[in-house]
Amino acid sequence: MTSKKPAGRVRVALLGCGNVGASLASMLTDPNRLAEIEMHAGVSLELAGVAVASLTERRPSLLGVPAQLLTDDAKGLVERDDIDVVVELIGGIDPARDLIEAALRAGRPVVTANKALLATVGSELADLAASNGVELLYEASVASAIPLIRPLRESLAAERITRVTGIVNGTTNFILTRMAESGEDYHEALAEAQRLGLAERDPTYDVEGGDAAAKIAILASLAFRREVRASDVYVEGITAVRPIDIEFAAHLGYAVKLLAVAELVQGGPDLSVRVHPAMVPKSHPLAAVRGAYNAVFIEGEASGELMLYGRGAGGAAAASAVLGDLVVAARHLRSGGSSPAPSRRGPVSFRPLEELSSIFYLNVDVVDRPGVLAAVATVFGHHGVSIRSMEQVGLGDEARLVFLTHVAREGSMLATIEDLHHLDAVDRVGSVLRVIGSSDAPDPSAGPGLARP
Ligand code: HSE
Repeated sequence: MTSKKPAGRVRVALLGCGNVGASLASMLTDPNRLAEIEMHAGVSLELAGVAVASLTERRPSLLGVPAQLLTDDAKGLVERDDIDVVVELIGGIDPARDLIEAALRAGRPVVTANKALLATVGSELADLAASNGVELLYEASVASAIPLIRPLRESLAAERITRVTGIVNGTTNFILTRMAESGEDYHEALAEAQRLGLAERDPTYDVEGGDAAAKIAILASLAFRREVRASDVYVEGITAVRPIDIEFAAHLGYAVKLLAVAELVQGGPDLSVRVHPAMVPKSHPLAAVRGAYNAVFIEGEASGELMLYGRGAGGAAAASAVLGDLVVAARHLRSGGSSPAPSRRGPVSFRPLEELSSIFYLNVDVVDRPGVLAAVATVFGHHGVSIRSMEQVGLGDEARLVFLTHVAREGSMLATIEDLHHLDAVDRVGSVLRVIGSSDAPDPSAGPGLARP
């Protein structure tokens, strides 16, 4: 595939120098690390230039970067004759897309961590890379240093994967863990995450599930060899989760997690790709993933269950994954080999959410008077949703009914919720959580397998 063979050092252009870029720049200017890489990987890397938005704004992340390497002309840097590999760490769609395309057209391999771009035009970029005979590598785009992209592309290339279930957003996992362990409400836990630098000042992309949607789209494309984009993913975030939901889940033997799920739907070729909070049995390995950590649980026909776990964010961790890709790209530049390009087996169809089934948890604020439970239960029955258990929590103005259903179709549950909104006795329909379990009967002692919906 790649024919270019630089005789000596492989010269790297770095686009963007924020948190991850600064970590990478410090690794690429550390003579000891470069010597180690040369010794064990047989390639010699050199940071040849760093493109930043402004040369006059001296951000702290630029402090360690040699001034003579800095430029504000990213396009010029990408097209410089002495550049062998381009690393894009700007993020977002523009100008990252143009710059990556320019690099690929110029015959330069690209390493990127840009999940938003890959989950939007990843297949177009992969096609462009292939048609120019160069590599597009993006291990750091999902859960930073946790190896996921290469295992899916290479180690599991022959596996029939049936489901990928991930906790791929550290911010929301930190918030949910904090709510469970300290009893804080969502806003208090978010404030703590922001204080610790684990949540952005505007946390929308994380807490509303957009970040996890981009990541599961990338993983689903590789696992199922289909084209899946972020816009194909059904998304619910965690802002409606309340302490009572978490307490109730714990009481039943479950943890509440924001899950990103991609699976082959049973009985058909369709995929379901979604992000939503869910109740996970405490016996499942994903329930033990605490704080800002990430994990991805992969189920394959022959491989069985696999879980990859680690820190999903942070400058150094992401830079480590980028550096790994750089070493691979540099080796291939020298040896003429290449990483397998992601394959796509043709059109993809997505199963509408309404057609999936699961056990549901639902809490409803009600007026505390005779006949209310009967009226609420009638709505469930009318839509064919069978109630497994019901508990009243609180009295008078604080009365709340907490339901667990048997396996029900999503469409029936949505219709139930819609009708509950119209009952006089219902003040508010609170959280709805899908319950992930190994059978209809919630059984915390059950094995780790996740039920097919
Ligand atoms: N904001 C992400 C998270 C990390 O909270 O996991 C970057 O993808």
